[in-house]
Amino acid sequence: MVNKISAEEFYDNFAPNYDDVLKDPKCNAQHVYEAVKIFHQYNYHQGSVLDIGCGTGFLSQLLQGDFEYTGIDISANMLEYATKRGYKTIHKLIETALPEIDTQSYDFVFCLSSLHCVEDAKTAIDHLYRIARQAIFISIDETTEEYIENFVVPVYEHSKIVIENAIEDYFILGWTSPTTGIPIQTRMIYIEKKLK
Ligand SMILES: C[S@@+](CC[C@H](N)C(=O)[O-])C[C@H]1O[C@@H](n2cnc3c(N)ncnc32)[C@H](O)[C@@H]1O
Repeated sequence: MVNKISAEEFYDNFAPNYDDVLKDPKCNAQHVYEAVKIFHQYNYHQGSVLDIGCGTGFLSQLLQGDFEYTGIDISANMLEYATKRGYKTIHKLIETALPEIDTQSYDFVFCLSSLHCVEDAKTAIDHLYRIARQAIFISIDETTEEYIENFVVPVYEHSKIVIENAIEDYFILGWTSPTTGIPIQTRMIYIEKKLK
């Protein structure tokens, strides 16, 4: 097992290179593009977006339409980039921020590639259901024993968690970890809160 550091420290250091790594063919990151593909497939064009574990706010570069973004992240350096992309930001742990957010206060809730950093994913997902007015988009990375041992941030395996009433629910090859070289399977989930 490698010596662990906090998500905050790791992602603060990673922030300046994060978008380049996302675009690097060696990382082959598909999860954000796949979530955006689902989003457009269901014809959403405007509204408020809560982006949980938003990183640099890369999502906002891909969604076509008129959206207002709020991002939650523990990394101040990541949030600096998101702010430049027009995000309002909440610099807190997901576990602390979600219970403080009002019920049905955002049209769309995204949580891409960050739930594996949260120990109690079930409670976080319950909050996603509570907070979203229209739709929820989640990607959950499968964390194998090899990945849990070799990635420097503590991560948890939630990819088989039971999710009720999902309209889309399937695995893709989400990305290849740039630090460990391990390919990561990612579960893509789309949940509708109300009929359009
Ligand atoms: C793998 S990146 C994903 C970024 C973006 N959502 C994407 O899919 O490209 C994970 C992000 O979650 C943040 N993060 C990890 N654990 C967190 C926690 N417990 N609370 C808040 N943010 C966290 C990290 O700082 C990082 O920006």
